[in-house]
Amino acid sequence: MNVTDAILTRRNIKRFKPDPIAIERVVAWLELASFAPNHRLAEPWEILFIGPQTREKLQHKTDFGGAPLLLAVVATPAKTAIDRDEHVEAVACFIQNLMLAAHAEGVGTGWSSIGASPRVQELFGLLPGYEVIGVLPIGYPAEVPEPKPRTSIEQKITHLP
Ligand SMILES: Cc1cc2nc3c(=O)[nH]c(=O)nc-3n(C[C@H](O)[C@H](O)[C@H](O)COP(=O)(O)O)c2cc1C
Repeated sequence: MNVTDAILTRRNIKRFKPDPIAIERVVAWLELASFAPNHRLAEPWEILFIGPQTREKLQHKTDFGGAPLLLAVVATPAKTAIDRDEHVEAVACFIQNLMLAAHAEGVGTGWSSIGASPRVQELFGLLPGYEVIGVLPIGYPAEVPEPKPRTSIEQKITHLP
């Protein structure tokens, strides 16, 4: 799959088949994801594989659509507000890479912001300064939503003198 197709056909998946995903593939996608742009090579991401006990305690309304695998991507602490923003931005790039890498192999992903709450931060045992940027269910899609149309980019472009 080329990059254009991967970007255009990736969807945020909400219902998954129970079929397992080989952990080696997930690690390979995470490795690819780590080639995301990141300032000063901070590599400000850490990954938590979420086991069944922790997953149950998340009390997600659909249990993440029955995905066979659930992970969280966390941004590492920063010393300044600017660094903090840059960490979050780099982790978002990392997550996009991860989603596209999985999608290119026919595996679906979702992005949940459930990790933004202090309750989840505590459940994950994160030290102060760490931020959960996304909780991602991963698995073969049981249902692929229709693409949501985007506003023409022409409407978002400003030409400065
Ligand atoms: C930072 C961020 C947080 C998100 N949080 C959620 C979420 O909590 N629940 C959800 O259903 N989708 C969440 N999404 C996914 C968006 O809803 C989804 O990308 C959007 O509807 C567009 O659909 P598409 O990705 O299939 O094109 C999140 C996306 C981002 C970038």
